[in-house]
Amino acid sequence: MGPQAAAKNDDKITSQMTLSERADHLEEQMMHDLERVVTKSVLANLMDGRVEMSGGAALQSKYPGKYFNMGEDPRLPKMPDKPTLLDYFKCRFASTNHLLQSGALALKAGHSEKVVLACLLHDIAVVSFIRCDHGYWGAQMIAPYVDEEVSEAIRMHQALRFFPDESMGYKYPDMYLKYFGPDYKPEPYIVEEYKRARDSKYYETSRLICVNDVYAFDPNAQVNLEAFEDIIGRNFKQPKEGLGWDNSPSAHMWRTIMWPTRFL
Ligand SMILES: [Fe+2]
Ligand SMILES: [Fe+2]
Repeated sequence: MGPQAAAKNDDKITSQMTLSERADHLEEQMMHDLERVVTKSVLANLMDGRVEMSGGAALQSKYPGKYFNMGEDPRLPKMPDKPTLLDYFKCRFASTNHLLQSGALALKAGHSEKVVLACLLHDIAVVSFIRCDHGYWGAQMIAPYVDEEVSEAIRMHQALRFFPDESMGYKYPDMYLKYFGPDYKPEPYIVEEYKRARDSKYYETSRLICVNDVYAFDPNAQVNLEAFEDIIGRNFKQPKEGLGWDNSPSAHMWRTIMWPTRFL
């Protein structure tokens, strides 16, 4: 079959497919174009509602003669050899508006640099990694590089945002009513975390994350990352080896975000 006939045949195949079959087909085409085989982790499949994984042997017979990707994924923006937090903001964070707007609010309110940093980084797990329990993940990601006040506040905002504190100007967000329905009740582990957070010496900082969390996102508001460069420089211990290569307790998390399709 010549290239034109093949393309026509391909059109015919795709036109008879359902939308999700077409997506799989396109993904497969793209995989054949890549030099190395990139693989999805089980977590990615679980998130698609499937308890599945592809074994190495099966994948190699599907893509004969190809090795598995063991480093950067060519489909993603290239990261520098020694990436900084700002490089992750630019190359890996899927959305930064919410973080920048929250940081800008805290800055405008005149809070300390630690509070501003906590607001700026409070949802980094959501924008780079995972939604479920994002406060815990985000806190672990940054704990080796920031003051305990910042990481603890981020961990506790996971629970605090579900509980009002009128004395600090925080009411239950209307957005949550809209998102989770009026009947949603935080699970027992969140209630327990909330009780512990109330007794924490970092309660106020964590509560300020909730207060400055922008629930009504303004897609038109423009805040530049540059506005926070000095605060990050003074309060985030950038490892000289690059974030991910520094052998800290969370370096592997940054590497996973850098190279999410590494085979092992
Ligand atoms: Fe959050
Ligand atoms: Fe948030």
